[in-house]
Amino acid sequence: MLALPGKAALIGCGVIGAGWAARFLLSGIDVTLHDPDPEAPRRLDLLLERAERAWRRLTLAPVRLHGSFRFAANIEEAVADADWVQESVPEREDLKRATLAAIDAAAPPEAILASSTSGLLPSRLQEGLARPGRFLVAHPFNPVYLLPLVELLGGRRTDPAVLERAERILSALGMHPLRLHHEIDGFLADRLMEALWREALHLVNDDIATAEQIDRAIIYGPGLRWAIKGTFQVFRLGGGEAGMRHFLAQFGPALELPWSKLRAPELTPDLLEKIVAQSDAQAGGRSVRELEELRDDCLVSVLLALKQHGHGAGAELAAFEERLYALSHRRSLREEDDLDRPLRLHETRVQPEWVDYNGHMTESRYLQLFGDATDALLRYIGVDRAYVDAGYSYYTVETHIMHLREVASGEPLYLTTRLLAVDDKRVHLFHEMFRSRDELRLATAEQMLLHVDTRAGRACPAREDIAGRLRRIGEAHARLPPPDLAGRRVGEPRARRSA
Ligand SMILES: NC(=O)c1ccc[n+]([C@@H]2O[C@H](COP(=O)([O-])OP(=O)(O)OC[C@H]3O[C@@H](n4cnc5c(N)ncnc54)[C@H](O)[C@@H]3O)[C@@H](O)[C@H]2O)c1
Repeated sequence: MLALPGKAALIGCGVIGAGWAARFLLSGIDVTLHDPDPEAPRRLDLLLERAERAWRRLTLAPVRLHGSFRFAANIEEAVADADWVQESVPEREDLKRATLAAIDAAAPPEAILASSTSGLLPSRLQEGLARPGRFLVAHPFNPVYLLPLVELLGGRRTDPAVLERAERILSALGMHPLRLHHEIDGFLADRLMEALWREALHLVNDDIATAEQIDRAIIYGPGLRWAIKGTFQVFRLGGGEAGMRHFLAQFGPALELPWSKLRAPELTPDLLEKIVAQSDAQAGGRSVRELEELRDDCLVSVLLALKQHGHGAGAELAAFEERLYALSHRRSLREEDDLDRPLRLHETRVQPEWVDYNGHMTESRYLQLFGDATDALLRYIGVDRAYVDAGYSYYTVETHIMHLREVASGEPLYLTTRLLAVDDKRVHLFHEMFRSRDELRLATAEQMLLHVDTRAGRACPAREDIAGRLRRIGEAHARLPPPDLAGRRVGEPRARRSA
């Protein structure tokens, strides 16, 4: 079941607060922000543009970056009707505690109060709060709108039920909440990164390697593996067939050697200048914005690749995508549904990259949208993830699309679906695509779907409850006048049939 909050308040709208804003808005949640910096709205606009761009490439699901957002003049106004409040002010304990106290005093009693802190302990942050039970740390990673990891931990006085509720909410936002059961400075991921970072600083300080060499040592090797298998699983494979035991036997003795230095070098002015100069040289004159876009494009491609394998962050993305479709498609067929008209199950908006050199929606996107409408129908009749995982599905075996009008970028559209004929294995259907603002018909598609046993690779009857729903819709639609453009052959003059 979906567990999304109705409204979120974000206190602090810098790199992380703005990233949270995108994450919430992408899930259709309204957001109120408070940040005293007059530049915050401009920075948020830029980040939302980037997040929307990334998400258009990440999923074809109708992304709902249409939750509304507004800035409030103060904390009290921002949190007044929030279900989730995320504090993302600078990492200073005094500032965080004062901010959290103000939030706690003004937020509705049921609201969850989360801090983005990278390492301050929740037990200390919740001291002095009137309702410490609803306070927790939800530590995300930059960019918050793309990276799923969020470390989730409570303090001594946090209510365990609140942590469970937060876990469900963060999952519903497409994130991967990692519950930590011990309060430690720096939590988990930053501790690991810092161990590497300390060593890297030593190597630069001792003139053993440059920033450039150190980054290459990661991006051409270990970095590629980390997204797939983390550290322990990678080393397990390093042990060959004998696994971890062999790996430890072989490389364990090296742990005794003083390879790495866990105490960081002193950040002297010389070392600071050296690192900044090497880092600037690496950027090669490219702006932060250019580098952020490149990072996002690559992250999207990595996530898509992992999704293909249903692995790691890709599995999380696939589950989130399912939820986005479920949110945008209507609930399943119910007794009281009015079936005396075509089903209206899918709505969307033409994305700029769907438009081709003629300035109109390119032809492959028509098939995608009709496919989305077919998916919406399948969900409506009960073909869900469990049904597909059990080895049954519908395959499209024939499609005839008619392009009636050009479709411009940004247009809101909706699609309707009629069943022309059904039996226990086949569904013959007719989709129509309309421009929402004036109901102009833009295209039609006639399709034949075949129910298959996907493991055996052959057609088979649909499960009785699904076949029953189809029969019910099919019988109702059979009473409607036949659609004017159904049953046509390619190139058939339109006038002949309508005469
Ligand atoms: N940057 C990261 O990679 C990262 C990652 C995870 C967590 N965090 C944590 O997130 C928090 C925010 O970090 P950031 O990188 O976004 O910092 P940032 O400096 O980019 O943003 C902080 C924002 O808070 C605003 N602010 C200052 N005082 C405020 C107040 N009293 N009320 C409301 N807003 C106020 C500032 O104007 C600024 O826009 C920190 O706790 C940090 O440790 C940062």
